[in-house]
Amino acid sequence: MAIRILSGVQPSGNLHLGNYFGAIRQHIALQELPDSERFYFIADYHALTTVQDAAELRLNTRNVAIDYLALGLDPRLSTFFRQSDVPEVLELTWLLGVVTGMGLLERAVSYKDKVAKGLKPNVGLFTYPVLMAADILIYKSNLVPVGQDQVQHIEMTQDMAGYFNQTFKTSVLVRPEARLNDTPKVPGVDGEKMSKSYGNTIDLQMDEKELKKVIMSIKTDSTPVALPKNPEACNVFTLYSLFATDEEREALAARYKAGGMGYGEAKKMLLEKVVAYFAPYRQKRAELLANPGHVDEVLRQGAAKARAIASQTLEEAKRACGLL
Ligand code: ADP
Ligand code: TRP
Repeated sequence: MAIRILSGVQPSGNLHLGNYFGAIRQHIALQELPDSERFYFIADYHALTTVQDAAELRLNTRNVAIDYLALGLDPRLSTFFRQSDVPEVLELTWLLGVVTGMGLLERAVSYKDKVAKGLKPNVGLFTYPVLMAADILIYKSNLVPVGQDQVQHIEMTQDMAGYFNQTFKTSVLVRPEARLNDTPKVPGVDGEKMSKSYGNTIDLQMDEKELKKVIMSIKTDSTPVALPKNPEACNVFTLYSLFATDEEREALAARYKAGGMGYGEAKKMLLEKVVAYFAPYRQKRAELLANPGHVDEVLRQGAAKARAIASQTLEEAKRACGLL
């Protein structure tokens, strides 16, 4: 049977380089994998744990949909839909919740991080990993391509699948595996993990002027221009490496080590790379913006396909627990 690949991105703000290089680039590349099928979705129920303004959520959802398509998601190769168009996932969330210990959720690093940053912890935020597990398990997904920060959630999903199958003496839920690429943790302009909630992002939608401002603000150390610098310890270099060929990367590393080059120059090289790399995306994005009906139709068709599979798994799961 074909490998089933699934992933989701929250519409909680504009997409940034971390989302692209950690997750979305893999999602697009995996469209070439033989013997596989793909399900990618916009996790709007998840975003509601933090975005609680209707107009903002609608706008973000549309933006993420357009961005995915502009970045190369092909609806003929991937089923693309909105999480909330498949309400069955909430029923499975409940079934998983009753076999999941509080302790498992209390260990969730991403929850603890969000609370530490001052987010008021609502019940939805706490049970977020259960909904994410339901997302994955309801499509019997085998492979979940994500960035490093989501790996723990996928391990929790493996646990929940195991608890459910054991408790109800069934094999309906399939154990998924996380998939990382070679850039699973992209740093932000302050050197921490790039994240919407840290305010340290370089966004895909930024125009050249905005990009220049944010790239020039990347934190570097105070080594004087004349002295040699360590490329491995520099965020500008790390970000440049995302775009550069091996030769370009080596050439810049050599200039760092030789001394005589300031960080400002490296930042300009990074700016050029970002602008050029995302130029086709910006063009495609403008075309899609002018054709909202197309985006709606893609999501509608995606939801219908996803829902047919989800309702089947839900029925099997309900049967296993004695609900049918
Ligand atoms: P954010 O952390 O900005 O809220 P999301 O949680 O919506 O982003 O993440 C969407 C996808 O992008 C996930 O697969 C996540 O692992 C990945 N991702 C997010 N930030 C980064 C990063 N800095 N480096 C690599 N991958 C990332
Ligand atoms: N929690 C993921 C994130 O913040 C988004 C997400 C929701 C997801 N459900 C998922 C990712 C299922 C992979 C599979 O990035």
